[in-house]
Amino acid sequence: LAVAPTRNDYAGRRLLITAGPTHEDLDPVRYLGNKSTGRMGIALAEAAAARGASVDLVLGPTELSTTDPGINLVPVRSAREMHAVCVALWPKADAAILSAAVADYRPASMAQQKIKKEDKPLRIDLVRNPDIAAELGEDKKPHQRLVGFALETENALENARGKLERKNLDLIVLNSPNDEGAAFGHTTNKIQLLDRDTVTAFELKPKRAVADDILDALAGRF
Ligand code: CTP
Ligand code: CA
Repeated sequence: LAVAPTRNDYAGRRLLITAGPTHEDLDPVRYLGNKSTGRMGIALAEAAAARGASVDLVLGPTELSTTDPGINLVPVRSAREMHAVCVALWPKADAAILSAAVADYRPASMAQQKIKKEDKPLRIDLVRNPDIAAELGEDKKPHQRLVGFALETENALENARGKLERKNLDLIVLNSPNDEGAAFGHTTNKIQLLDRDTVTAFELKPKRAVADDILDALAGRF
């Protein structure tokens, strides 16, 4: 009989995790979204809870969810809602892992009625959303740790390290949509973990195992 070893290395720690996409409303029936399912972030939350953490999971609109009793699930819709919840929870957290695919832009205004088509191109003005990772990084206390994600289609290592530095992250998880079986919509992922001076490459594996690799790396940094 094989019994999984119970690690309790996150006992007493509080983790803030963001996951899933955000939806940015255009009119009462339309929104701008992205392909994130939240699966990686939910796996992180469940793995952390299994290791003893108390977890706040701020989850954007997606089909997937979790009923894990160790997880305080906070459903949100837009980037601004996710931002408000994260800013409120960050002071209580020992670490945050930001896996959400947050929309960088939202429509400058939401139409109160359904937009009607006309015989000319439609232009939509977009304005910048708050950068949750950058703000938490600015307010990071010496005892807190911050982990980000990066999905890059070119200059992956260089772009990911730039984000790590600009947002004051301790670790960044790089996954490439070009890797077979990795990132959006898959049950597996293949990551590289970067800190300021090292890169560690991992094999393709189920997202729960990837989550434990990320938590192993983070646990060593408190
Ligand atoms: N992030 C965030 N809030 C945002 C945008 C991104 O918290 N408004 C977080 C993501 O959750 C991720 C990290 O920042 O952990 C990097 O996100 P990414 O989209 O790769 O980086 P950006 O800084 O938005 O740069 P770009 O999209 O231009 O590559
Ligand atoms: Ca972005």
